Amino acid sequence: MLETIKNTADYIRAAVGEMPDTAIILGTGLGDLVNHIEISKELDYHQIPNFPVSTVEGHSGKLIFGRLGGRYIMAMQGRFHYYEGYDMKQVTFPVRVMKALGVKTLFVSNAAGGMNKEFVVGDVMIITDHINLFPENPLRGKNHEELGPRFPAMTEAYSQRLIAMADEIAAADGIRLMHGVYVGTAGPTFETPAEYEYFRIIGGDAVGMSTVPEVIVANHAGMEVFGVSVITDLGGKDIKEVPTHEEVQKAAVKAQPVMTHIIKEMVSRL
Ligand code: HPA
Repeated sequence: MLETIKNTADYIRAAVGEMPDTAIILGTGLGDLVNHIEISKELDYHQIPNFPVSTVEGHSGKLIFGRLGGRYIMAMQGRFHYYEGYDMKQVTFPVRVMKALGVKTLFVSNAAGGMNKEFVVGDVMIITDHINLFPENPLRGKNHEELGPRFPAMTEAYSQRLIAMADEIAAADGIRLMHGVYVGTAGPTFETPAEYEYFRIIGGDAVGMSTVPEVIVANHAGMEVFGVSVITDLGGKDIKEVPTHEEVQKAAVKAQPVMTHIIKEMVSRL
């Protein structure tokens, strides 16, 4: 694994040149952020040795380098989901590569179903913590001390410093920003009403099918993480609306300006 990470990092460094210390995984809801990046270099996932290739509808696969809010960053346009059939090592491989390239701060976004009764569709939720309900932990197996400790703490998986920064930006700009716990599940099914209810009872505010694996690996690697969800549908025992992929995409697009503004502003303040 160490050799594979190194080979991929070497390829990217040679192809791109300057390396950033900040990375953004553009999940659903942050697609538009690309239009705010002054792009200096793009690498198609197909070109990058050892990189998995993105398959899901609505996600293309590119690694983008450029300036955002005056800061040099890299962005993953398209991520790898466990439900697509990738194993946990593949899902989190790009985060390992980011670390090898010198990335210290990671931003992640996703679409999520809301269980918190105060949420409305289109809300943006800062992830304050997560509950990992994936069937497998990405760190299962041999631990490479060079990559991180055997038993990493997850006490502050999402940086309090970055959460405070987002809150400050939202307050200054009059943006409604929710806080909550993200429940990560394998998917690809959306939840049954009983499952949404169960996730709410155990302390979840929103549920989705990504993010948790990448955040675990980023923490293992000692990176500072900021995560944000767009609430694209609501679930619970009395909610009859049926979530669809199209609806999720539509709601995410609506929340894009807020997501983009916050991330761009945060990156410029780092
Ligand atoms: N459940 C799981 N994942 C999701 C949802 C949901 O309701 N909405 C968007 N991603």
